[in-house]
Amino acid sequence: MSTKIVVGTQWGDEGKGKTIDILASEANVVVRTQGGNNAGHTIEANGQVYKLRLMPSGILNPDTLCIIANGVVVDPKVLLGEIDDLNSRGISTDNLKIDARAHIIMPYHRELDGLSEAARGKAGIGTTKNGIGPCYMDKAERSGIRICDMIDKEKFENKVRENLEIKNKIMTLVYGGEPLDAEEIIAEYNGYADRLRKYVVDTTPILYKAIKDGKNVLFEGAQGTLLDIDLGTYPYVTSSHPISGGVCVGSGVGPTMIDECIGIAKGYTTRVGNGPFPTELEDEIGETIREKGHEFGTVTGRSRRCGWFDAVIVRYAVRVNGLTSLVLNKIDPLGGLGKLKICTAYKKDGEITYDFPPTLEELAKCEPVYEEMDGWDEDISNIREFEKLPLACQNYIKRIEELCDVKISSIGVGPDREENIYK
Ligand code: GDP
Ligand code: IMO
Ligand code: MG
Repeated sequence: MSTKIVVGTQWGDEGKGKTIDILASEANVVVRTQGGNNAGHTIEANGQVYKLRLMPSGILNPDTLCIIANGVVVDPKVLLGEIDDLNSRGISTDNLKIDARAHIIMPYHRELDGLSEAARGKAGIGTTKNGIGPCYMDKAERSGIRICDMIDKEKFENKVRENLEIKNKIMTLVYGGEPLDAEEIIAEYNGYADRLRKYVVDTTPILYKAIKDGKNVLFEGAQGTLLDIDLGTYPYVTSSHPISGGVCVGSGVGPTMIDECIGIAKGYTTRVGNGPFPTELEDEIGETIREKGHEFGTVTGRSRRCGWFDAVIVRYAVRVNGLTSLVLNKIDPLGGLGKLKICTAYKKDGEITYDFPPTLEELAKCEPVYEEMDGWDEDISNIREFEKLPLACQNYIKRIEELCDVKISSIGVGPDREENIYK
């Protein structure tokens, strides 16, 4: 009988998919509220691996209603690919609903994402090139195409022609790219509309009623706090609001209706794409963490940059998301590394600061202040009780809890949905 928000506390890939899948066993509704197929959420269950990008991670649960809410940007081709893949593996997608207001990613969004990244050269953001930024740009500029437009053939054709006239000029005259053909796009998207029409509804009254009826509703975050367009490491961020505040706007639910905000962190830090990363390890230890933690992007396959746990970042996430608890995943890859380090604060201009700075210029001046902790060598993946963990591992977790000023409710010791310790 509760509404829970789950958000990433770092730069994404904290294991949100795994945690959502576990929480979904008790949820009646799971809702994605922002981002798009830039997300890659991995679930390992019953010996199978599922990589979800747009589909809410509750889909493996046959009784859970899955909602793609208004704040998500939907690439219909990718979504249909996921539906087909799940169906072919015996997972029903009949419980999916998509809000009519959700904006759709068009071929020119993907094209423009690639062209603008290429034009930025070395200063590129390192986007997933899925057209996320350009789609949110159109939404804010009020020229976007929504899924309610896509399923209305006449309206859609007009909107595509209108938009493409301008987009083709930008792609060819500004970026020196190739123009796209309106008729081809219309034909392709009409096919998507025919298949997706049955899922499209106004999801806001459904959600309101579910909450009023005391159902368990889970809001599945994508990306992470430091990728938030306002509170992240701008401009090296995504174009939406992955923080808890984004959930209300992204789903049409008021803040008074939220009971819990659960943050997800991993026992170290990773980042894909460009931008600052104070505790990054560009050495053998970073390489070992990448190998042991399989830190390669779910969507792009890119190597994830790895570094020590940064308590300044997670403490910031506790504050800006109003977290009520923290799930600490991926403690197991830290075994056998020798001494471990936790960044407790930053040193800036000779002074110690505990707050994550608002600008890249200030962040560039920050040196991590480390506390060294004993590591452990044992394989902990079969352990299910906190007290049975090696003492050094218990101390590492307790220190994170203390430094981040938040209760740790569960600890991940492996990728499978069973591999957790509940505290
Ligand atoms: P998300 O984007 O936050 O959902 O995370 P990703 O799925 O992109 O990346 C997390 C990866 O870590 C996935 O491959 C998960 O299967 C895996 N994972 C999640 N929790 C754990 C854990 O506790 N231990 C280990 N070893 N892997 C985990
Ligand atoms: P999940 O939900 C990690 C990063 C990209 C890039 C920046 C902008 O799996 O945690 P975009 O394509 O969104 O315009 O790229 O954001 N990024 C992610 N990094 N996990 C994600 O999602 C991400 N989604 C976007 O790498 O640096
Ligand atoms: Mg991911």
